[in-house]
Amino acid sequence: MKDQPAPHDIDGNPVSSGPPMAMLAEITHRCPLACPYCSNPVELTRAQAELPAEDWVRVFREAADLGVLQVHISGGEPGARRDLAQIVAGAKDARLYVNLITSGIGISRTRLIELDRAGVDHVQLSLQGIRPDMADRISGHPGSWDKKMAFADWVTEIGFPLTINAVVHRQNMDRLPDMIDLAEELGARRIEVATVQFHGWADLNRAALMPTREQAAIARQVVNAARIRLRGRMVIDYVPADHHAIYPKACMGGWGSTGLNVAPDGSVLPCHAAPSIPWMRFDNVRNRSLSDIWHLSDAFNAFRGTEWMAEPCRSCERKNVDFGGCRCQAMALAGEARATDPVCSKSPLHAQVVARAEEDAATDRDDFIYRRMKKGG
Ligand code: SF4
Ligand code: FES
Repeated sequence: MKDQPAPHDIDGNPVSSGPPMAMLAEITHRCPLACPYCSNPVELTRAQAELPAEDWVRVFREAADLGVLQVHISGGEPGARRDLAQIVAGAKDARLYVNLITSGIGISRTRLIELDRAGVDHVQLSLQGIRPDMADRISGHPGSWDKKMAFADWVTEIGFPLTINAVVHRQNMDRLPDMIDLAEELGARRIEVATVQFHGWADLNRAALMPTREQAAIARQVVNAARIRLRGRMVIDYVPADHHAIYPKACMGGWGSTGLNVAPDGSVLPCHAAPSIPWMRFDNVRNRSLSDIWHLSDAFNAFRGTEWMAEPCRSCERKNVDFGGCRCQAMALAGEARATDPVCSKSPLHAQVVARAEEDAATDRDDFIYRRMKKGG
């Protein structure tokens, strides 16, 4: 066997990489919803360019060999693929724990039973609001609420463990207590409350979505109180509003450390927004093994470890806590992916970022630029 070059970071420094724990399989970008904060890239992959099911089956085997334990099958809306059950069965055959992340729209009860048989272990359902008018307006899909409520009933009837996924922003954050109650009523064991991340499409809707500092502070208190009240019954994962925070989030738990994303066309990404870094090139599972990509590719090694960091991160006591924050947010706000995430209070751009966030939050804009795939997608 040929000797493999040692993993190195962008400056040529050697780095070590353990196995990833989880893989996000974005099997399509097609989606019936049009959420104004969609986290998929601005340029969506067309249906014709999607990886066929047999390739996904091979990728799941490679992922399991690499050490991946769980796969999150997502999109877009994974139900948009007719061969979803075949894809799920491939993940199950590879002995991965299979989490289906869905809008609940376009998957009938019969199909959900079929997906249960194929090997789905867990379902994660997105909710955009706590009432029909709110949910339908934010998702840009009339009738979405009724479909989601019916879907949630089927999930519990069939016996899947359920997680509710709630993206929060200025227009629904005040209803967070009701959202947590709703998740409990639906029988969820977990709720993921994630404040909108402002890169990609969401950035176009900043003025309509940016929460106020006060809303962010109240949301934190609501989550803390609910965690105590629901201990042992429902877990609450929370991604706070980092534009109003002192330190950034540890995005992806550190670049290239615990997870990888495979995009609909087979590109392998260190995080879902990595294509927003213009100079970064991504390998594809069609022509390189997942193991090689994880351990050796330039994209995965670009920001692994801490050697790539500049000041103030380089000498910061938190560099192994938040890993310098989010590279994509640094790209979006500082125009430089290697920069300290500007939401960090130690970043020279912090004051500017906060001022802009306050300005956006103070507007009374509530109109959205919806995310829709062009016809023929
Ligand atoms: Fe994190 Fe860097 Fe800020 Fe320190 S300076 S808290 S490592 S982002
Ligand atoms: Fe890319 Fe945070 S979304 S590193």
